[in-house]
Amino acid sequence: MKGNSQKLSLSIVGGGNVAFHLMNIFYNNDKIEVKQLCNRSCFTSHFEQFAVEKITNVSLLKPVDICIIAVKDSAISEVSEKLPFSGNLVVHTSGNTDIDVLSGKNRKGVFYPLQSFSKDIPVDFQEVPICIEAQDLADLEVLRILAESATSKVYEINSFQRKILHISAVMMNNFTNHLIGISKEICEENKVPFEILKPLLSETFEKIQKTEPFEAQTGPARRNDRQTIENHLALLSGNRKEIYKTITNSILETYGSKKL
Ligand SMILES: NC(=O)c1ccc[n+]([C@@H]2O[C@H](COP(=O)([O-])OP(=O)(O)OC[C@H]3O[C@@H](n4cnc5c(N)ncnc54)[C@H](OP(=O)(O)O)[C@@H]3O)[C@@H](O)[C@H]2O)c1
Repeated sequence: MKGNSQKLSLSIVGGGNVAFHLMNIFYNNDKIEVKQLCNRSCFTSHFEQFAVEKITNVSLLKPVDICIIAVKDSAISEVSEKLPFSGNLVVHTSGNTDIDVLSGKNRKGVFYPLQSFSKDIPVDFQEVPICIEAQDLADLEVLRILAESATSKVYEINSFQRKILHISAVMMNNFTNHLIGISKEICEENKVPFEILKPLLSETFEKIQKTEPFEAQTGPARRNDRQTIENHLALLSGNRKEIYKTITNSILETYGSKKL
C-alpha cells in the first residue's frame, strides 16, 4: 500500500458499462492514477475522452496497486488467470460472483458498485453504494480508500451477503423494470397513452421511500378483490397471465388471503 501523499495506481479490464462509469469517477480523481484500460475488443467512442493507454491484450497489463476486472461474470475467472503479474491486488465488480473465482496467483478482492449502469445514462456516484471485500485487512483498507474517493456509501460485505444483495437488487430493479415494460406494451397494443400512468410510476417510487412496502401495497390482490382479478386474467394470455397470477398469489398470501 502506498503512502498517503501518493496516488493509488489502477488498471481497468473491460470496456462495458461499469468500466465506463468507473473511468468517469477515477479519471479526474486526484487520489487515483489510471494507468491502463484493457478490453478484448476495441473501445467504443465513449472512452475517447480518457487519455490513458488503451490495450486489447491482457498480457500487456502492468502491475498496479489495484487491477479492476469489470467483464461479464462468466469471464472473470479466465481473465484473472491471464493477467501477466502475480502477488498484486485484483478485484472484480460483480454482485453475484464469489471472490474465490479470481485466480490465486494474485491477492483477491471485490469492488461492487450497487447501481444499474448504462453507458449513456449519467450516474451520481456519490449516491452509489460500493460493497468491498478482500482476503486481508491491508487490501480491504486500500479498497476502502478507493471506494471513499468515489462515494460516501462504502460497505464491507462478504461474498454470501453480496449474493443476497444481488438477488434483492434483481427483484427490486430488474423485475420492476420488466413489469413496467409489460405495462407499456399493454397500453401501446391497445392504443392507450402510457404517459397517463407516469404520475403513478413516480408516486410508486416516492411512496416507498417514506413507508414500508407492506404498508404501501394497494390493488386488487391486497384487497382480495377476486372479481377484478378474474376480469384482469380474462384480458391476459401467455407469459403475462402467468406473471400476473404468480405475483397476485404472492400478494394474496402476504396479506393472509387464499391463493387463486
Ligand atoms: N451494468 C450494471 O448495472 C452492473 C452493476 C454492478 C456490477 N456489474 C458487474 O460489472 C461487470 C461488468 O458489467 P457491465 O455491465 O459493464 O458489462 P457489459 O457492459 O456487458 O460489458 C461486458 C464486458 O466484458 C467483456 N467480456 C465479455 N466476455 C469476455 C471474455 N470472454 N473475455 C474477456 N472479456 C469479456 C466485454 O468485452 P467486449 O466489449 O469485447 O464484448 C465487455 O468489456 C459484471 O461482472 C457485472 O455483473 C454490472
